[in-house]
Amino acid sequence: MHARVIAVTAVALLGAATLLTPTHHARAGGTGGQVTIVAHRGASAYAPENTLPAVDEAARRGFTWVENDVQRTKDGELVVIHDDSLARTTNAEEVFPDRAPWKVKDFTAAEIARLDAGSWFGPAYAGTRVPTLTEYMRRIDHNHEKLLLEIKSPQLYPGIERDTLKLLGNEGWLDRQHLGRLVVQSFSADSLRIVHDLKPGLTTGYLGTPSATDLRAYAGFADLINPSYTSVSRNYVTTVHSYDGPHGRPLGVFAWTVNDAPTARKVAGYGVDGIITNQPDVMRQALSAP
Ligand code: G3P
Ligand code: CA
Repeated sequence: MHARVIAVTAVALLGAATLLTPTHHARAGGTGGQVTIVAHRGASAYAPENTLPAVDEAARRGFTWVENDVQRTKDGELVVIHDDSLARTTNAEEVFPDRAPWKVKDFTAAEIARLDAGSWFGPAYAGTRVPTLTEYMRRIDHNHEKLLLEIKSPQLYPGIERDTLKLLGNEGWLDRQHLGRLVVQSFSADSLRIVHDLKPGLTTGYLGTPSATDLRAYAGFADLINPSYTSVSRNYVTTVHSYDGPHGRPLGVFAWTVNDAPTARKVAGYGVDGIITNQPDVMRQALSAP
C-alpha cells in the first residue's frame, strides 16, 4: 500500500503514462501498482462539466486523463453532454421555453450551439458552449490529454458507435499514436461489442460490475471493467485481474466516482488501476500521503 500511494504521484505528474504499452495502445490493467487518476467530465469540480474549460482546467492542474459523455443531436452531430436533457446544464428552458423536456436528440446542433452551458456553474463561465465532439477532440489533442470517452445512452441513438468511430478516425484519433490515448466505455455491453467489432484495436471499458461467471464473456470485447466504487471489493478486483482481455492483457479496473480521500485510499487498497473523480486534486493528495 505504501509503495502504491507513492507511485500515484508519479502517475499524476506523468499523465498516466503507465497506461501506455510500448506499442502505444492504452494498457488495460496490470499497471504495476500505480493508480491512474481520471478527471470525470473534465475537472468538473472546478469548471462546468463536459466543457472545454473543464478539460483546460484538468490540464492546468496536471491531470492528463479526462472522461466525457457523448450523445447525438437531431441532425446527427455528436456533442459532449451528460444528461439526455439539456435542462440541467444549459439555459435551454429559457431559450426554448416551448420545447420541454429539452431532449438532446430533439435539438439541432445549431440550436444547441446557441445555449449557455456555463452560467449554471458560475458567472465566470457565462457563454461557455456545449462542445461538439469535433471541437472537444481538437482541444484535448491540443492539450496533449487522454480520453475516456463514454457513449452515453446508446439505445437512444442507433448507430452512434459507427458515427463516433468515423469522427474519431476523421480527427486522426484512430492512428497508432492516438489509440494509446483513448478508451471508449459504455454501460451498454451491446454498444461496446459493436465498438470492439468495428475497431478491434481500440481499448474499451464496460461500465458496471459483471458477475464472476460473466467476466469471461466480457473479456471478449472489454479491456476494462469499470464499476461504481460502491460495488467494488478487493476480491472482485482480483477476480477481474485474473482474466485476459481482447488484447491478451489482464483486464483493468477503473472505479467511479470517488470524490473523498478515505474512499480513494480504500479502493486503491483493493488494487484498482484507476480512479474516476470530480476531485482529481483530492485523489492525488490522498494517494500521495504516507
Ligand atoms: O466514468 C464513469 C461515470 O462517468 C459513469 O457515470 O453517470 O457520471 O456518466 P456517469
Ligand atoms: Ca460518464
